[in-house]
Amino acid sequence: MRPDLIDPHIVRNSETADLRDSCKSHRERVMQLIESTVSDLSAESNVDQLSSVVLLGAGNCLDVDLIRLARLFQHIHLVDLDVAALSDAVADANSTDNRLQIHAPQDIAEPLLAMMPDDLSTDDTTRLANSLKLLSSENGVADVPESDIVVSLCLFSHLVVTLSVLLTDDNPVYANALKAIRLGHIRRMLSMLRPGGVAIFITEIVSSETAPKLIDVSDSELPELIRELVNDNNFFSGTNPSPLLAELNLLSRLPGGPETVDTIDPWKWQMGDRTYAVYAMRIQKKIPLKEEAAPAADD
Ligand SMILES: C[S@@+](CC[C@H](N)C(=O)[O-])C[C@H]1O[C@@H](n2cnc3c(N)ncnc32)[C@H](O)[C@@H]1O
Repeated sequence: MRPDLIDPHIVRNSETADLRDSCKSHRERVMQLIESTVSDLSAESNVDQLSSVVLLGAGNCLDVDLIRLARLFQHIHLVDLDVAALSDAVADANSTDNRLQIHAPQDIAEPLLAMMPDDLSTDDTTRLANSLKLLSSENGVADVPESDIVVSLCLFSHLVVTLSVLLTDDNPVYANALKAIRLGHIRRMLSMLRPGGVAIFITEIVSSETAPKLIDVSDSELPELIRELVNDNNFFSGTNPSPLLAELNLLSRLPGGPETVDTIDPWKWQMGDRTYAVYAMRIQKKIPLKEEAAPAADD
């Protein structure tokens, strides 16, 4: 992994580590989503406690309550490029519980954090095609077993931030590279799930930096404001829900693809002095149909 691609994320994590209090209502929304999914899956499989959850982009864990999660799962896998942020978050949770397992440093979009601009150049189309194939592949995170729930914690827009260091958005390859990263992210979440498990994709879509109306808008007015902002092209690259839904629809034709996709109403995330609009998608992975027993051969 390239230090110059990793360091901006580590610096940002150290700058935001103290903002836990301001993230309280966002954290509550994320926890409600996880807890309601736990209830649904426990009822479906008739178990008291689920086996495991994977938190992608866990970072400082400002958006989850690790103690509450430790009551719900036997194993909690925390994945990020930033070892120190995860270690501090686990220490702050004051948990000696070995349910919390750190997987870091890990590139969730591998090989994105090791790429050079030449890997995405049209000068060598074979190399470019191979790079796009790798980015869109379903390689999960090594050492993380298939889990009941995988949550992407406002990580996707930060994968796009890394892409923007490699390519400017007017580069002819940018749109395809962005699509490859988004498809790879969804495929990787699905590949880390057991059949019937649920992926919760959570992403910021726009912030008060470009949309100051977010600061005062009520929750009930938020969906309409987001529709307007998307129409005005005022959103973080790659986070428009429409192409994402189209990709999920395509994946639903594959055996390990989504069985159902629910879009969750957006909410606001106050992160220090900036307000973000955030939405989520809840994606349940298909359970393969049991093969019918072959008919007995006639004697
Ligand atoms: C905005 S933060 C998400 C908030 C985080 N859950 C928290 O509470 O601090 C995005 C996280 O994604 C991580 N990240 C960004 N790109 C990554 C990559 N390619 N692989 C793994 N982690 C990545 C960053 O280190 C950061 O912790």
